[in-house]
Amino acid sequence: MGLVSQFFVTFLCLIPSILGQVTEFTSIDCGGTSNYTDKTTGLPWISDAEIQGQGKSVQVENTYGNSVQYQTRRDFPTDGKKYCYKLTSEERRRYIVRSTFLYGTSVTEGTYPKFQLYLDATKWSTVTIMEASRIYVKEMIIRAPSRSIDVCLCCASTGSPFISTLEMRPLNLSMYATDYEDEFYLKVAERVNFGAPTQQAIRYPDDPYDRIWESDLDRRPNFLVGVASGTERINTTKNIDVNTREYPPVKVMQTAVVGTKGSLTYRLNLEDFPANARAYAYFAEIEDLGVNDTRKFKMEQPYMPDYSNAVVNVAENANGSYTLYEPSYMNITLDFVLSFSFVKTRDSTRGPILNAMEISKYVEIAAKTDAKDVSSLNALRYMPAQSEWTEEDGDPCIPTNWEWVTCSSTAPPRITKILLSGKNVKGEIPQELKNVEGLTELWLDGNSLNGTIPDMSDLVNLKILHLENNRLTGPLPSYLGNLPYLQELYIQNNSLSGEIPPSLLKRKLDFQPFHLGYDGNPHLRRVTKSRNKLVLGTSTGVLAILFLLILFILLRRRSKAKTSSERNEKANSWRASTRPLSAYSIARGGGSLMDESVAYYIPLSDLEEATNGFSKQIGKGSFGPVYYGKMKDGKEIAVKTMADSSSHGTKQFVTEVALLSRIHHRNLVPLIGYCEEVHQRMLVYEYMHNGTLRDHIHDSDNQNHLDWLARLWIAEDAAKGLEYLHTGCNPSIIHRDVKTSNILLDINMRAKVSDFGLSRQAEEDLTHVSSVARGTVGYLDPEYYANQQLTEKSDVYSFGVVLLELISGRKPVSTEEYGSDWSIVHWARSLIRKGDVISIIDPTLMGTVKVESIWRIAEVAIQCVEQHSFSRPRMQEIILAIQDAIKIEKGTDKIDSSGSSKAQSSRKTLLTSFLDIQSPDLSNGSLVPSAR
Ligand SMILES: *[C@@H]1O[C@H](CO)[C@@H](O)[C@H](O)[C@H]1NC(C)=O
Ligand SMILES: *[C@@H]1O[C@H](CO)[C@@H](O)[C@H](O)[C@H]1NC(C)=O
Ligand SMILES: *[C@@H]1O[C@H](CO)[C@@H](O)[C@H](O)[C@H]1NC(C)=O
Ligand SMILES: *[C@@H]1O[C@H](CO)[C@@H](O)[C@H](O)[C@H]1NC(C)=O
Ligand SMILES: *[C@@H]1O[C@H](CO)[C@@H](O)[C@H](O)[C@H]1NC(C)=O
Ligand SMILES: *[C@@H]1O[C@H](CO)[C@@H](O)[C@H](O)[C@H]1NC(C)=O
Repeated sequence: MGLVSQFFVTFLCLIPSILGQVTEFTSIDCGGTSNYTDKTTGLPWISDAEIQGQGKSVQVENTYGNSVQYQTRRDFPTDGKKYCYKLTSEERRRYIVRSTFLYGTSVTEGTYPKFQLYLDATKWSTVTIMEASRIYVKEMIIRAPSRSIDVCLCCASTGSPFISTLEMRPLNLSMYATDYEDEFYLKVAERVNFGAPTQQAIRYPDDPYDRIWESDLDRRPNFLVGVASGTERINTTKNIDVNTREYPPVKVMQTAVVGTKGSLTYRLNLEDFPANARAYAYFAEIEDLGVNDTRKFKMEQPYMPDYSNAVVNVAENANGSYTLYEPSYMNITLDFVLSFSFVKTRDSTRGPILNAMEISKYVEIAAKTDAKDVSSLNALRYMPAQSEWTEEDGDPCIPTNWEWVTCSSTAPPRITKILLSGKNVKGEIPQELKNVEGLTELWLDGNSLNGTIPDMSDLVNLKILHLENNRLTGPLPSYLGNLPYLQELYIQNNSLSGEIPPSLLKRKLDFQPFHLGYDGNPHLRRVTKSRNKLVLGTSTGVLAILFLLILFILLRRRSKAKTSSERNEKANSWRASTRPLSAYSIARGGGSLMDESVAYYIPLSDLEEATNGFSKQIGKGSFGPVYYGKMKDGKEIAVKTMADSSSHGTKQFVTEVALLSRIHHRNLVPLIGYCEEVHQRMLVYEYMHNGTLRDHIHDSDNQNHLDWLARLWIAEDAAKGLEYLHTGCNPSIIHRDVKTSNILLDINMRAKVSDFGLSRQAEEDLTHVSSVARGTVGYLDPEYYANQQLTEKSDVYSFGVVLLELISGRKPVSTEEYGSDWSIVHWARSLIRKGDVISIIDPTLMGTVKVESIWRIAEVAIQCVEQHSFSRPRMQEIILAIQDAIKIEKGTDKIDSSGSSKAQSSRKTLLTSFLDIQSPDLSNGSLVPSAR
């Protein structure tokens, strides 16, 4: 059964999505005349004839090989405009966007085209053609900011802008995710396949994501020079396990260079550097080493000593030969000239190896024009008008502004002027114009606009408004008189009617520099003085009546409030059993509770009655059994008994209870009251109908299977409860025993954290064993266990375990499931570090979740269970990550949520693990084989 279903799942997921991947590819042959399937790759290409109305198709003389794509290019006019292609994207998915340029026509040097390439408002590259027959490739890795992106060409300094191909390839999972992706795109500088068999680059179908892996035999100037002697090329036909984070193609990993004389050195130029970069090295041992052979090496960078220490032992780091190991620097500053060398360590028998590497530059994402402004401009563009001005595409302001608008130089840019005089625009003036708040000039004169003048009272910066020579009807709105900076208002030759607002006429008389033109509106009148007074008189009368009315209403409200509060007081005293007056608790409870709003004392007899003689046990708390009960007023309760109650101070207990009951948060189980008798202490909590999270995840009888989104909501709730304990309470409270059985679910399946704050009390009670860390096996923070330093980060560790349980549906400790590692932490960590999140997903969730969303949680969970507490995130950051995952799962996320940016920044590089593993070698200065 298991086998069959597994096969079925694999079959279902794998086959269609590989096909799916390809159909998700966008491949545009610019200047091409027909659609076709590329013979070598089998990929469908479409001609841009129907999507690009601008520019012209040009036949290329010097065709490159046989590829159809390069037989034509599209040339655009050399003018002040930009020319754009709009590509559809899935918001927040990561893509490779690639444009290529083959000019193909020989011209005299210095007159080859040189122009700018933009991705939305972000400057992508300066395209500088220097050889007619070379294909220039520009590649950007982005996380799509919205449903579409614009690739624009403009601003030629020589020649005219042109383009040969435009491609977009979606990426999977967390490939190419960085901490900075909210603010930066990744511009690929180099992606090199070492030991390549030919000069040909490797790409689709060898790389299912169609990345281009340049051959190291490529003969570009200054490309991979300064090669150390003894460098040899090796290859294998064995399969390589590449399932980590970035999935380089097996074919790339099957070749490598090795430094047989102990070192590998290279030098190359990085376009547009110096800059901050993301750098990946891809290693796999592809030689069969002898039993006594080792391959260990270090990177040697004289100018960057920080980067020179880590020792790479490929087979060991990768956990075996023929397996990928991909250490990375997620943010490294590199110069234009990159020289690097790998040198073998003294105790290594073999020289260094390198299979591939990839370097991308961080390019800051530039702000697009304010979205409200853009949609207002679009409202104008989509009005009926058969003119060229509506065809301009891309961002209205960047890199060049649309001809009919003027923009501010702020970030983001705002529209300051709209100039559509005599453009044959028909219809009504769009309402949306009121959103263009930065507008100072609006010229809509000489069109066929009809309808009334819309509300533009928010355009407080407006200086010049031209609406003359249209067919506008209706009154002249009075707000026009209140626009503080208005200097010119022209409305001649329309069909406006009614009266000219007095404020406008007055403004004219005030000798302000104000011009009003209103001739040619037969029904528009100037106001007469007497009418003016009448209007004023009426309005005073109305005001007086209004005033009286309001007074009356206010008075009535007050008296009502009074009676209702009296009624409430009464109600309270009736329900003495749930909320007694303080006098009551003082009398019975020993006078320790002074604050009326805190939990109150409930006599044992009441509890015995409520729980029917403690007959229904619903669980086991940290200190004793928990019973179900129902108070006289029908309120359902959970009574937590504390069995081992020592003779320790009653006062202490009561103080503790008082403290706890002041803590109110929707994600914390509320404490209702307490009971203390000679040998019994009890805490009374609100009853949570859906029991513990533990039962829902691990109890196989439980039919209420939690789907992933439900788990995420629960995680978010619980995290918020913990965050409140850590940051919302003074003094802050460390839970100390975070686990799935302390996360309770209410009737709506929202989670509340229970059992918090008892810690201090417990410690007092257990002074004789205070050296034993409190907590539950499997959830216990190892650092706390080791040195008894309790911080909020101990709760974070435990919460990380809870997250792993939510993902995997597995128990925190089990020798059956995890073998000798026995803990979910070790098991999950090793799989996640290998990039294999699929293997840890709860089988009952399979097929219904977005893996990307699981990744977000997996990543943050692994950070939570970091060995050192300082490496763990705060609850705040965890909440953001969970919210991020929820957005991804629901697929309704908006990109500008500032939350996600912080959540993203919690992502961790593999570098940490890379250094962690090797640091023992370095600390004592000697190079002994690392103990692993
Ligand atoms: C090419 O394919 C695109 C997209 O499928 C389609 O819109 C267009 O009409 C096709 N063009 C030709 C010339 O067949
Ligand atoms: C693989 O390496 C062998 C030498 O070990 C060489 O003869 C062969 O040409 C190489 N193959 C490729 C595809 O590079
Ligand atoms: C992309 O991810 C899906 C699962 O979400 C997987 O089935 C597919 O094989 C992946 N595509 C590639 C090219 O790896
Ligand atoms: C990389 O590090 C530098 C210096 O530490 C920092 O200024 C920069 O913001 C970081 N991130 C990126 C994407 O450049
Ligand atoms: C490996 O080293 C051990 C001890 O150094 C030696 O006894 C053994 O012969 C070596 N094996 C090979 C295959 O070289
Ligand atoms: C404005 O003119 C358009 C035709 O150009 C017409 O469809 C529309 O009904 C007119 N609106 C008003 C309010 O007259």
